[in-house]
Amino acid sequence: MKIYRVGIIGCRGRGTAAARAYHTHPRTELVGLCDLIGERLNTLGDEVGVSARFTDLDEMIRQTAPDIVAIPTGTEFHYDLCMRVLEHGIHVEVEKPMCTDLTQADALIAKAQEKGRRIAVHHQGRVGAAMRAIEQALVAGKIGELRYIVTTNKGYYGGYGLMNIGTHKINDMLKFGGPCRTVAAHATTNGHSITPDDVLQAPGGMGTIAGEHITATLQFDRNVTGTLLHNQFEPINVAASVMELYGSEGQLFRHIDSAWWLPQPHFIPAGAHDRWEALTPIYPEHYDRKNAASPDDYWFVDEYVRALDEGREHECSGSEARHVIEVMMGIFESAAHANRIDLPQENREHPLLRWRKESGLGAPDAMPRAYGEWLTAEFRRLGR
Ligand SMILES: NC(=O)c1ccc[n+]([C@@H]2O[C@H](COP(=O)([O-])OP(=O)(O)OC[C@H]3O[C@@H](n4cnc5c(N)ncnc54)[C@H](O)[C@@H]3O)[C@@H](O)[C@H]2O)c1
Repeated sequence: MKIYRVGIIGCRGRGTAAARAYHTHPRTELVGLCDLIGERLNTLGDEVGVSARFTDLDEMIRQTAPDIVAIPTGTEFHYDLCMRVLEHGIHVEVEKPMCTDLTQADALIAKAQEKGRRIAVHHQGRVGAAMRAIEQALVAGKIGELRYIVTTNKGYYGGYGLMNIGTHKINDMLKFGGPCRTVAAHATTNGHSITPDDVLQAPGGMGTIAGEHITATLQFDRNVTGTLLHNQFEPINVAASVMELYGSEGQLFRHIDSAWWLPQPHFIPAGAHDRWEALTPIYPEHYDRKNAASPDDYWFVDEYVRALDEGREHECSGSEARHVIEVMMGIFESAAHANRIDLPQENREHPLLRWRKESGLGAPDAMPRAYGEWLTAEFRRLGR
């Protein structure tokens, strides 16, 4: 059985999470680490016992000949780094969101196709332990026929939450609903519908955004509709970020690594049958619960190994991530023009930049990268 050789570019939070998963999976071997900051390289290298440490990614690739290179860096670097790695003819794993607009997404998919290589995007929740329990329950008919899906955000400013957390949520919704055909959205800032002046540079290098509060409805192929909620509130609360599947005979509920089943379609708090039953998360056979890697990151690696063995795409492929970006861009466009948007859109330009251009405006001004400072600057703009 082939052991896949793996290199990692970026050794901070997400790089550490990825390294732990590739280090402990029996079918992958970490062969090289790369970071611009020596201290991070050494901390992670010492933890996972990798002595091949580099500050230049091309050098890492030349010296260690990896099959897969993971790119857990800030989002603004994803496009350029993916392109550089693909140019070497190597499979890519990149953190979410894959990139920040559709022209970049199209170019990445084209480059991967040209090189005959795969892109997997780290939407680990979709292939994770709780999601597998949800999928198993759905396939077993525990909620009858799926009717609609609701996902919520943890309180980030709406447009930023969409790019940051919505990328996971939309990908999760695609798993059950199938491809998304149309979107319709409302986005408000300071109590009014967004205007071109409310188009902003996102924090965290996540491109161009708008909307303090966003509510979007999605229509999926499998006769399923969905609602996506991205409302700004403080403090950020991860408990607010959930997915609910509503079926003809029951409901399924996911929150990070937990899943529940309600054996009735309508929840009434004081009702006689209002018992949510916990579903048991499903772990890979060889996953040790004492493992430093999270089960979902481990599952993500496991799925990549299987996909490469079988010559197919990862369930969280680059193409699926591009479709996620189509949905996100469709939401911005729909909110801007108060229109329903059919997907995939023909015009691949960022719809908010196009909107500003049509209003005689250029790209929005630079904003702080850190979310807290960014929010302070935005509240100042809004006179709060
Ligand atoms: N999947 C998830 O659950 C999840 C959770 C949080 C964040 N993220 C995503 O992870 C990404 C950020 O990850 P992070 O917080 O670990 O990033 P970070 O920016 O804190 O760290 C990235 C590291 O990459 C290094 N780096 C950047 N460019 C490099 C280059 N050219 N060559 C070598 N090293 C380079 C930096 O020095 C830094 O150490 C974002 O895209 C974010 O959306 C995903």
